[in-house]
Order: sequence, then structure tokens, then C-alpha cells
Amino acid sequence: MNLILLGAPGAGKGTQAEVICDHLQIPAISTGNVLREAVKNGTEMGLKAKSFMDSGALVPDEVVIGIIKERLAMDDCQNGFILDGFPRTVPQAEALDAMGVKIDKVIDIEVADEKIMQRLSGRRVCQDCGASYHVDYKPSKEDGKCDKCGGQTVQRKDDHPDTIKDRLHVYHEQTEPLKDYYEKTGKLTIVEGQEEVADTSALTLKALEA
Ligand code: AP5
Ligand code: ZN
Repeated sequence: MNLILLGAPGAGKGTQAEVICDHLQIPAISTGNVLREAVKNGTEMGLKAKSFMDSGALVPDEVVIGIIKERLAMDDCQNGFILDGFPRTVPQAEALDAMGVKIDKVIDIEVADEKIMQRLSGRRVCQDCGASYHVDYKPSKEDGKCDKCGGQTVQRKDDHPDTIKDRLHVYHEQTEPLKDYYEKTGKLTIVEGQEEVADTSALTLKALEA
């Protein structure tokens, strides 16, 4: 199954992508993770992307379209994939169509802005393996330490309150129009993402069967 997860920053796309990945055994591709890795490794792409990401702005379309083109050509994507955080603009969605990629389902996880603030300001991520935690909703067993690899958990630079506000603004302006774009294809399902992780997972897995 070729799947797109839409939703505001902090809606829970990464969290649900992990659940679907386990369920369907298909890879989850997060453009955010690919870009953060590039920043960490100091590659040319990372250097280009860093200032956009730190300020909560979107990285230019051609950069992320290039990432997706390369990633979807890999062997492990031939039996399906989950796109987490791509497309994020109408030109990105058009580029995906132009690549001839057939999308089976688009799941939009809906969460109110106030809740997003709470979630993102409490998020902590492992700086080694990228695993995601939350100080209240999903704490790691030992404070500051990743359950999976023992690495240090830190706050993402773009998870500071002012930057979260900017990211939400960018989302409403540039990404939300994709709901209309995919509504017209008849592939869009809206999933309520306000409640606990397990509730959203149940609704997401149900949406996959519909
Ligand atoms: P990206 O990494 O994609 O960030 P994002 O979309 O802002 O999404 P997040 O990872 O912040 O949130 P999420 O929805 O995955 O939520 P999560 O599951 O972690 O992008 C970062 C940057 O990269 C962008 O700003 C941009 O600069 C650039 N970029 C990336 N893709 C791009 C593109 N296509 N074009 C241009 N630029 C691009 O959950 C959040 C927190 O809440 C966690 O702590 C989690 O534990 C908790 N949580 C999750 N679900 C629940 C729940 N149901 N109840 C309680 N807590 C929950
Ligand atoms: Zn880790």
C-alpha cells in the first residue's frame, strides 16, 4: 500500500507511521528525519536546509522532491511505503503525481493548534536513533535517556514555543490546501488525533482497511 500521512506538525504522523510500519511491514519515509540526518552529518543538503528548519520554514520544494525521488526508487519501497511529512505543498503533490507514483490512501490526522503546542513543547527525541518521547504522555524509562539505544534525549531546536507558532502558521498556509487536493481524488480519510496514541492508532488502522 502506498500511503501519505498528512497533518500539522506534532499531529502524530511520526508516531502513527511507526505503528503502520509494524502492522504492514512497509518502510516509513520522513523527509524531516532525512533532512535532520543531513544536518547532523554536515552534508551540502544539510547546510542548505538547516536555517529553514531552525526557523520553522519549509525547505525549498526541489530539495525535498529530490529526496523523495531517490528514496522511492529503492528496493524496499517497491511493495509499498508510508510518506510522513511529504508532500507539504501543492507543487510537491504535483511532483509526486508527475513521477507516476500511485497513492492508495491519504490519512489526515487532525489535532487542534492548542494541543499541538502542548505536544511539541514536551517532545524529546533521541539524538542517536531518533526515537520520540514526550515528558508527560510517553516518558522514557530513565529521564534523558533513550529506551531503545541508551542515547541522550534532547529537545528539537524547532520545538521551542515561538518556532512552533511559526510552523503552525506555515502549515495552515501551505500544507492544509493539500486536504482539498486529495479530497478531490477520493483518497482522503480524516482521522481524529486528539485523544491518546492508542485511540488514534485504532482509528488509523481502521482507515487503512476501509
Ligand atoms: P518534520 O520532521 O516532518 O516535522 P513536522 O511535520 O513538524 O512533524 P513533527 O515530526 O514535528 O510531528 P509529528 O506529526 O510527526 O508528531 P509526533 O508523532 O512526533 O519536519 C521538520 C522540518 O523539516 C519542517 O519544519 C521543514 O523545515 C522540513 N521539512 C520536512 N518535510 C518537508 C517537506 N516535505 N517540504 C519542505 N520542508 C520539509 O508527535 C509529536 C509529540 O506528541 C511526540 O512527543 C509524541 O510522543 C506526542 N504524541 C503523538 N501522538 C500523541 C497523542 N495521541 N497523544 C499525546 N501525545 C502524542
Ligand atoms: Zn535512541
